[in-house]
Amino acid sequence: MTWVVVPAAGRGARFGGEVPKQYLDLLGRPLIEHTLRGLLAHPSISGVVVALSPNDPHWPGWRALESKPVLTCMGGGERADSVLAGLLALPDSVAKDAWVLVHDAARPCIKSMDLSRLFAALKSDPVGALLAAPVRDTVKRSDADGRVEATIPRGSLWRALTPQAFRRDSLVRALEAAQRAGETVTDEAMAMERLGLKPLLVEGSEDNLKVTTPADLAVAESILRRMGDGRA
Ligand code: C5P
Repeated sequence: MTWVVVPAAGRGARFGGEVPKQYLDLLGRPLIEHTLRGLLAHPSISGVVVALSPNDPHWPGWRALESKPVLTCMGGGERADSVLAGLLALPDSVAKDAWVLVHDAARPCIKSMDLSRLFAALKSDPVGALLAAPVRDTVKRSDADGRVEATIPRGSLWRALTPQAFRRDSLVRALEAAQRAGETVTDEAMAMERLGLKPLLVEGSEDNLKVTTPADLAVAESILRRMGDGRA
């Protein structure tokens, strides 16, 4: 059985507005409730630790959802700091070498099938794995004037999604090493890569979007309506 760390301490600066995006109303519930229920409904997941910003007035105070434990801890200044705090707040029953998943609070449309595919990949992988989606558009790099400097061949390009899964202790060590080096890592895989490790890319659904702008909220709503309660 596997635990999930959910960083939810962001202020959602890119989204704007007073309410952080993880608490926006999505089909009559706070966005994060869809995220947490989507994770906890999976039979291989035993609980979550949610990293919150200090004195978060929006957190509804859940101690359990889907009959599984919901623990909280205080997040940090960057996403990686919040993830590290979450890992350190895992219960002692989570073994040092147990797989732990990390999933963005702002990704409410996580599907059971994607979680199962990730778990299946972990069975035979020594390093860890992440859900990802192949890049479909042609990708350009810009120069300082906003003109195309180069076209990047997209054949081997992926967009990193979450959940990302690594062994508890290895991920703590990797995040602490990045912190010590003063490097901001924007996902867990990046912290592992810094140490020369090569996480496995597992193709996940495009529906697993991160709500970043108001337009994303409308898309998430239609995806959740389509998924219904089944989340298959
Ligand atoms: O800002 P971004 O969309 O990349 O955030 C991804 C996730 O990380 C969100 O769920 C956000 O709440 C979380 N986060 C955090 N602590 C921070 C910054 C972001 O937990 N300091």
